[in-house]
Amino acid sequence: MHFLKNRGFVHAHSSEITPRASYEGRRDALKLIGTGVAGSALAAWAARDAHAQVARAGKLAPLAGARSALSGGMTMEKPTPYADITSYNNFYEFGTDKADPEKNAHTLKTRPWTVAIEGEVKKPKTYDIDELLKLAPLEERIYRLRCVEGWSMVIPWVGYSMAELIKRVEPTGNAKYVEFVTLVDPKTMPFVGSRVLEWPYVEGLRLDEAMHPLALLAFGLYGEVLPNQNGAPVRAVLPWKYGFKSGKSIVKIRFTDKQPPTSWVKSASQEYGFFSNVNPSVDHPRWSQATERRIGEDGLFSKKRATLMFNGYEPQVGQLYAGMDLKKFY
Ligand code: MTE
Repeated sequence: MHFLKNRGFVHAHSSEITPRASYEGRRDALKLIGTGVAGSALAAWAARDAHAQVARAGKLAPLAGARSALSGGMTMEKPTPYADITSYNNFYEFGTDKADPEKNAHTLKTRPWTVAIEGEVKKPKTYDIDELLKLAPLEERIYRLRCVEGWSMVIPWVGYSMAELIKRVEPTGNAKYVEFVTLVDPKTMPFVGSRVLEWPYVEGLRLDEAMHPLALLAFGLYGEVLPNQNGAPVRAVLPWKYGFKSGKSIVKIRFTDKQPPTSWVKSASQEYGFFSNVNPSVDHPRWSQATERRIGEDGLFSKKRATLMFNGYEPQVGQLYAGMDLKKFY
């Protein structure tokens, strides 16, 4: 991120596609208005719509999730079009250009796939991906994703809370942190020979952060399995943190007593901290974090929108950081 010349906003696709769900929702609303039902009925419709499932993209194998109350207010925001979510990516193992992951990640083999749970747990275990997928009921969670580079999306993920997995493996009293190790495979990942980062891509959380119900293990988006470029077959999603905390294509989850050294901290600790909570009042050393541009909606010249504390999830997660100096622990 820090070395990219082109870190300004360059949007690959100015897609005008309206997601089918929001289109259909609007049609329902129009019907209500057409029959003379308005006001409170419309409000009721809006409330119902907040929990409606987003329509499938129709590109990959279906993976449905039940509607979730944990989407928060974000469900009222329009999900970013599928075409944008899957063509404007950061997945450096496949190249550093935003268009590279879509172009190159077809080589990623997502079966067979295992995720090893190791370290400070009473029940270490290597899960086959299809077993992991069935570990807990899948939910659809519509979350904002805010990249440290200054852009954002609204993504309808399919997955379940990390806590579901964590409670089954029973962390020991020594477990204070969780480390997420992602795949490094030079045969299928053309860029892991490069020295932009230390591979594998490693991320980490404090155990209480990982246990927060908003912390998601995602297996799909838009009602289908994850496209490779978005981190198939399983990735982390931490909606209140900058996007780089959400490691893609996870192969190992390790519970430790010490804060794990993470890839971006190792590469530039003065720019990227371990916590990396979205915080509009703590700027990146080389750019402001006060505003953002929503991919698929905001054009290059439209006014940027304000970035929210903890990406808008402060009511849910603020307590995790009570008493901490967030300028120091950025
Ligand atoms: N995970 C791996 N393994 N490699 C990466 O390069 N990039 C991160 C994160 N997870 C990255 C990764 C960054 S910087 C962001 S913003 C998000 O993935 C982007 O997720 P998306 O492409 O699905 O929007």
